[in-house]
Amino acid sequence: MCGIVGYVGPQSALDVVIAGLKRLEYRGYDSAGVAVLADGALATAKRAGKLVNLDKALAEAPLPTGSAGLGHTRWATHGAPNDTNAHPHLDNAGRVAVVHNGIIENFAALRAELAGRGHALASETDTEVVAHLLAEEFAGGGGLAEAMRRVCRRLQGAFTLVAVHADEPGTVVGARRNSPLVVGVGEGEAFLASDVAAFIAHTRDALELGQDQVVEARRDGVTVTGFDGTPAEVRTYRVDWDASAAEKDGYASFMLKEIAEQPRAVADTLLGRVAEDGTLRLDEARVRPEVLREARKVVVVACGTAFHAGLIAKYAIEHWARVPCEVELASEFRYRDPILDHRTLVVAISQSGETMDTLMALRHAREQGAHVLAICNTNGSTIPRESDAVLYTHAGPEVAVASTKAFLTQLVACYLVALYLGQARGSTDGAEIRAAVRELARVPDALERTLATMEPVRDLARDLADKRTVLFLGRHVGYPVALEGALKLKELAYMHAEGFAAGELKHGPIALVEPGLPVVVVVPSPSGHRLLHDKIVSNIQEIRARGARTVVVAEEGDESVVPYADHLVRVPAVPPLLQPLVATVPLQVFACALATGRGNDVDQPRNLAKSVTVE
Ligand code: F6R
Repeated sequence: MCGIVGYVGPQSALDVVIAGLKRLEYRGYDSAGVAVLADGALATAKRAGKLVNLDKALAEAPLPTGSAGLGHTRWATHGAPNDTNAHPHLDNAGRVAVVHNGIIENFAALRAELAGRGHALASETDTEVVAHLLAEEFAGGGGLAEAMRRVCRRLQGAFTLVAVHADEPGTVVGARRNSPLVVGVGEGEAFLASDVAAFIAHTRDALELGQDQVVEARRDGVTVTGFDGTPAEVRTYRVDWDASAAEKDGYASFMLKEIAEQPRAVADTLLGRVAEDGTLRLDEARVRPEVLREARKVVVVACGTAFHAGLIAKYAIEHWARVPCEVELASEFRYRDPILDHRTLVVAISQSGETMDTLMALRHAREQGAHVLAICNTNGSTIPRESDAVLYTHAGPEVAVASTKAFLTQLVACYLVALYLGQARGSTDGAEIRAAVRELARVPDALERTLATMEPVRDLARDLADKRTVLFLGRHVGYPVALEGALKLKELAYMHAEGFAAGELKHGPIALVEPGLPVVVVVPSPSGHRLLHDKIVSNIQEIRARGARTVVVAEEGDESVVPYADHLVRVPAVPPLLQPLVATVPLQVFACALATGRGNDVDQPRNLAKSVTVE
């Protein structure tokens, strides 16, 4: 939520910052702004709306290139998305510029205090108080980093801050609490950003900034301290993907590219996790064996699409590990006083590793003594750092705001965790584990075949572009797939879409069915769950009898659904538990094509941000 970039070095700060913001725009696009230091002064520009508006403003009134600078792309929290509330924010003398991601909870008190000392604040944001406080503290001496430390000690809430001061032109300072900030270290230059994507074109050497730390970046290096000034130990790492992974590669959108990348993402997530003898090897996750053996229950916490992965994990974990599994929305979890102890394994699923709801849930779980295993796609992010163990997904950078490839890799990771638990607890025998792993290894190929047959799905989406509502039905693991299909359609096409467990239909939702209503039904494999399969075929007949237009997603060779399908979408036959891996793909393609047909921006849907770093 909100993208931040800072730079100091020999290149044009303006160009580096703008290019970085382009890579971070997925984090918010309500407004964008930049400030550069040149000739002992600050030059700034900011505009409401997407980055393209700022680009236009800069074309009309160019800024100097600058030797240091910062920029921001905003997802609005305090104050409407207009030019005044856009970041950077400056002090009254225009000597300090600040960008911010997060929420400063005590900003009202600080604002009143500043007003009392004669400061005039122009915006409605919580951020502007920081610029004014920094100006005051800087005037007290000690430099910008020390001023930042003193200010941070006064702030409550969650924040990443990056600041520059015209009187200290060789420095960019950053700080973080409960919100992401990574540091890129190049030859004679340094970068600060919400995400490595912002500087990956310049350096792959990154440094993790810990909780409550301040970084001072200069051309000759970086210094990290705690808010109290004590030098901090820092961990450096090398980013394992390069700039080309964050480009569109000729696709019309990142979403299309990311949907197409799913076979590779799944294969990469499986890579190196199975030993030659077919047993699972997840030692890298650093889960203590006794935690796996002695867990009395598993609780999965996640949000949105990751929550849907968690719902599917429950089926896999209970099947293979024979341990009770609860799945909970991270935003609800800690507020209901959940029962947890040292024999609870909490699995926190998050693509970004920065989702505040999930972070708060895992902190609560650890406070109660539970052991937390993160499933995450972002190396060095906060959630894996604060967990006891982590299993990384290898989806590569996911730039489109709505999740696609990360979801599929989260599913793979969940299956691996379920099998690993089964292996450690002895609840699944070696032959079954080997068979499941073999089936997982075939999924990339099944995905390739699924992707090759999506043209009718795109045609159907074009045909349905003017509909107001679409319902999605599924049973067993097809139920979370239905929820995910509905979520994709809501967020991309801005249509009313609901997912239901098909068995629930007769308990209420069937009242929504009217002639012409499109209903997408995910049908379980007939060989896996005959009874369940036959029941959903009856459900399809019930809605069709009431005039629904049925879109049936069924396994190749399942002929029993043919008479009841107005539109039939085939997916390859895979074992029943793994069906979400293939059945989700047509629903992603459908939502993407339908949204495109309605003229929507599929990479940056309205009102959303990719990394939700506020609760
Ligand atoms: C939907 C989507 C969101 C995220 C959710 C959690 O397409 O992308 O629902 O899944 O905000 O994000 P992470 O996985 O980063 O914690």
